[in-house]
Amino acid sequence: MSKKIAVIYSFHTKKSKRIAEKIIEAWGEPGLEAVNAEELTKEVMEKYDHFIMSAPTWFDGELPNYWDEFVPDLEEMDLKGKKFAIFGLGDQKGYSENFVDAIGILAEILEECGGTTIGNVPVDGYTFESSRAQRDKVFVGLPIDQENQARMTNGRVKEWVSQLKKEF
Ligand SMILES: Cc1cc2nc3c(=O)[nH]c(=O)nc-3n(C[C@H](O)[C@H](O)[C@H](O)COP(=O)(O)O)c2cc1C
Repeated sequence: MSKKIAVIYSFHTKKSKRIAEKIIEAWGEPGLEAVNAEELTKEVMEKYDHFIMSAPTWFDGELPNYWDEFVPDLEEMDLKGKKFAIFGLGDQKGYSENFVDAIGILAEILEECGGTTIGNVPVDGYTFESSRAQRDKVFVGLPIDQENQARMTNGRVKEWVSQLKKEF
């Protein structure tokens, strides 16, 4: 039986939603299932084998508000055997010291719960001061910067999706 994979993102964002849709389109069939991050429950997390998660960075290095409610529940879950690929919108010029921090914050929470993060990408090609998402020479997920590098987005998404197909 093929694995069930969910793409979790806030249905009320504009930019993150657009990227999630690009990921779903690039993935093709059998398709990924879209889940609204604002309506996440433990049951949803149990229902799927693996996840692609959106973590845009807000408030100088934090997860957006809609994660606040579910994170305490998430922290109590056993996520062993589940794989997580995280993508995150950020702005490397405007928020150079906290570039895509939310990717790193979410990765830490998921790993604490036994989950495995996949989909690391090299830091080459991005210019920033510091990031909680950086581990040595890679990010623990895919940063997307629509403010400064929008023209690279389609290529980055396509490449990441083919990488994920091997890693899931
Ligand atoms: C108030 C505010 C704070 C932000 N803080 C950060 C930040 O700390 N790090 C970062 O990389 N991007 C930061 N950004 C940039 C956003 O992540 C970026 O605009 C992103 O596209 C938002 O995605 P969304 O609209 O899908 O939520 C911030 C943007 C705003 C408006």
